[in-house]
Amino acid sequence: MGYREVYDAWKSDREGFWMEAAQAIDWVKAPSKALFEKGGNLFEWFADGTCNTCWNAVDRHVEGGRADQAAIIYDSPITGRKETITYAELKDRVASLAGALKAKGINKGDRVVIYMPMVPQAVEAMLACGRIGAIHSVVFGGFAANELAVRIDDAKPKAIIAASCGLEPGRVVKYKPLLDGAIDIAKHKPDFTLILQREEEVAELTEGRDFDWVEAVAAAEPADCVPVEGNHPSYILYTSGTTGQPKGVIRHTAGQLVALNWTMKNVYNVDPGEVFWAASDVGWVVGHSYIAYAPLIHGNTTIVFEGKPVGTPDAGTFWRVISEHKVRSFFTAPTAFRAVKREDPKGEFVKKYDLSGLRVVYLAGERADPDTIVWAQEQLNVPVIDHWWQTETGWAIAANPVGIELLPVKLGSPSVPMPGYDVQVLDEGGNPVAPGELGAIAVKLPLPPGTLPTLWNAPERFQKSYLSTFPGYYETGDAGMIDEDGYLYIMARTDDVINVAGHRLSTGGMEEVLASHPDVAECAVIGVTDQLKGQLPVGFLCLNAGCDRPHDEVVAEVVKLVREKIGPVAAFKLAVVVDRLPKTRSGKILRGTMVSIADGTEWKMPATIDDPAILDEIKDALKTIGYAD
Ligand code: COA
Ligand code: AMP
Repeated sequence: MGYREVYDAWKSDREGFWMEAAQAIDWVKAPSKALFEKGGNLFEWFADGTCNTCWNAVDRHVEGGRADQAAIIYDSPITGRKETITYAELKDRVASLAGALKAKGINKGDRVVIYMPMVPQAVEAMLACGRIGAIHSVVFGGFAANELAVRIDDAKPKAIIAASCGLEPGRVVKYKPLLDGAIDIAKHKPDFTLILQREEEVAELTEGRDFDWVEAVAAAEPADCVPVEGNHPSYILYTSGTTGQPKGVIRHTAGQLVALNWTMKNVYNVDPGEVFWAASDVGWVVGHSYIAYAPLIHGNTTIVFEGKPVGTPDAGTFWRVISEHKVRSFFTAPTAFRAVKREDPKGEFVKKYDLSGLRVVYLAGERADPDTIVWAQEQLNVPVIDHWWQTETGWAIAANPVGIELLPVKLGSPSVPMPGYDVQVLDEGGNPVAPGELGAIAVKLPLPPGTLPTLWNAPERFQKSYLSTFPGYYETGDAGMIDEDGYLYIMARTDDVINVAGHRLSTGGMEEVLASHPDVAECAVIGVTDQLKGQLPVGFLCLNAGCDRPHDEVVAEVVKLVREKIGPVAAFKLAVVVDRLPKTRSGKILRGTMVSIADGTEWKMPATIDDPAILDEIKDALKTIGYAD
């Protein structure tokens, strides 16, 4: 069957399609049906089945003949370390860690926050939670103590698992002071922490609260897999919305197992036993789905890569890893390729490695610009596939389903909707627009298995953010179009979310931090176009009347403040002081117009603008930092 037949088969029998996909999963009790309607436009999948994530990702492969196959290859150019962990070893390690958690009182449904760098123990911690039915919430290492605290207060974890440090080129990021700071700030206090001490930094442990990972695991009885209901949350992953309060995306156990397993062959075209590599971080959804879960559920080998596309040690790192570990399908963010291309435009490093085993490259996380795709196609001589998805969906909404059929690649398009997603482009009134016309991209409910059923602690926010604008649809927050051939084009976000180096960030969250500076009366943050990172945040500050401090001092302070409050990942380094912000007569800041001025793209004077002269001031201010030329 080709793509069209598979998509139509899903459309004509959705239950049958997902029940068949569910057969590839081991159930303790098989579900009686796939879709469960909960009312209020809420849906769940396989809710009356019981199963276990860790069993499906680890134990069943040990029993099924993959005991000696590599499950995880850890490759850390930043430390020079490499390690291969077989499925049998992974089972022992995870069972012991799960036992340690259990011995300290972690049970089914308890939350565990994981704050770890890219080491295999991060994946083991996720699997150990799944083994005993605990719900993990991984926090990206580039977030500061305050962001960690916000997540601790929302998820209310009984335990936090962390490493003593992460490693960024040229610096050791000490996690323990950040963790201690976060626990101090948070109202909710965890019962205990489990700390993985790394050679580069030995953290001080607080007696009675902090426990050493190795000691705890050595003393533990291995724990068995605990069966959980299909709709039991596997994890909560916080992602940026329009405010500083992140959204806790929930992933249910069974839907995740079924959907991710389906994607490994159909989208990523790998068979069990082959090596799959997603060069992301476990702190992001790509890391959850395609470093930790999908490859293991499907019996592949996954790579935990602790390094950067460039500088660890050079722009050939990706190619070295692909050739050394025989990677078949490789997944990264366009920004990573732009970084490599900038250092090695002619692909001198590519020529040094045997990449004959590589079959396909996948890009996601941000718009894949045609230049980058063409460069990668020319260098690597394999199809380069853009695909589009979100933390909320957990897997591709649109892709080129290479395992079913390699469709013609259209530059600038992540190709076509995957089975499970009825994607439509709607006008403001919620009516589908004609092919080629721009609109809001929405998905007709229900969303498929593996997508978010609701938000943690925030069911009303779930309704308001995703379901209220277009009744009967999930609002993706992206705008774009569908062409005559059914290919999607993702053009822009419709909210205040920006995408910096493939990382999703909230300009609203940054504005909250800027506004907390004592000299700032009013502010705005916009995302301007950046050749490397896609977008970069730029702040505009109006100072309090009477504040005569040098502007560069205030700018330096707010830059420091964002780094302290949100973290280095915000990449907030540019801000300017202006007298006023451009607004509509009703007081709405004209951020979109400011972005166009900064990027030097065409724009129209908004009809509702209060005082057009302010735009000249904005332009002059942007010129002082190298924009708006
Ligand atoms: N822990 C602590 N700090 C981190 C971090 C982590 N896990 N990840 C990033 N940071 C820091 C960086 O060190 C940098 O700090 P600096 O301001 O002191 O330089 C800052 O956060 C910004 O990081 P980033 O935007 O990633 O830029 P970079 O200059 O370090 O690297 C790229 C640029 C393009 C090489 C890098 O962004 C990259 O590899 N991106 C791939 C994107 C990706 O994997 N996205 C996941 C979704 S698929
Ligand atoms: P995240 O939740 O961090 O994965 O970010 C999801 C958002 O990133 C999407 O809503 C898009 O705005 C953007 N995005 C992800 N993949 C793509 C893509 N292939 N093309 C365009 N935008 C993308």
